[in-house]
Amino acid sequence: MIYEEHLRAAESAAWSIETIRWSAIDRAVARAEPEILSSLRDAAMIEGYLPTFAPRLMLLLWDDVDATAILSLELYEGLKHYTALRRYLDVVGEESSRVTEQSLVAAREKTSGITYSRSEIITYLTHFMCSELFAAHFFRRLGERTREPVLAELLGYMSRDELRHSAGAGALLKKRIAVNPEVVDEILAAAENFRHYGSDVVDVPLAEENDFDAIMAMNRKIRRLCGLAPTEHLEEEFIK
Ligand SMILES: [Fe+2]
Repeated sequence: MIYEEHLRAAESAAWSIETIRWSAIDRAVARAEPEILSSLRDAAMIEGYLPTFAPRLMLLLWDDVDATAILSLELYEGLKHYTALRRYLDVVGEESSRVTEQSLVAAREKTSGITYSRSEIITYLTHFMCSELFAAHFFRRLGERTREPVLAELLGYMSRDELRHSAGAGALLKKRIAVNPEVVDEILAAAENFRHYGSDVVDVPLAEENDFDAIMAMNRKIRRLCGLAPTEHLEEEFIK
């Protein structure tokens, strides 16, 4: 059921790489925004990490069919994001922000020693949910900042995709809470120690720690799931 609902949402919101107006990209405007190009490169590296990151999680979650299905959607749409970002950077043609196959392979290579433990599944799912939410805010903010119209349009699509991905992870956690309400404590602890999985491959993670909007959105999301937000949980800890 979880998969069907999210597959339906993905299909009805689907955009095609071919509908992006590649030939209308204003290269001069894009090149005048080197910080944005560098952020896009980081984002492309993170999206290009999905074919090794998602299977690592999937193998741990093999007995949760919904989870493997949601991660398959993530993998499919993440690769689409990678392809779109790489193509955008190729068209802009600024050498320092180009993503090459070798650079992606080198970034993936750095992660080859990472192993996940099955006992920490809730933590990974929570970090995954929050990472997607931060990515949604990151793309939205970047889309508002850029003066290059094709990029703004592309980032709008991608930001909405990331919101759906975060909702998918939220549905998986909700299912686990229904089976065992005690996992709420693990979710809260994981949210308090949030780490973006993108920091496995890039030095500067997609989300900055002072991303106030994203932090507030994460609080709301966790509160909806757990009945308590991470900040409130921390306050309770102090009172004890
Ligand atoms: Fe995603």
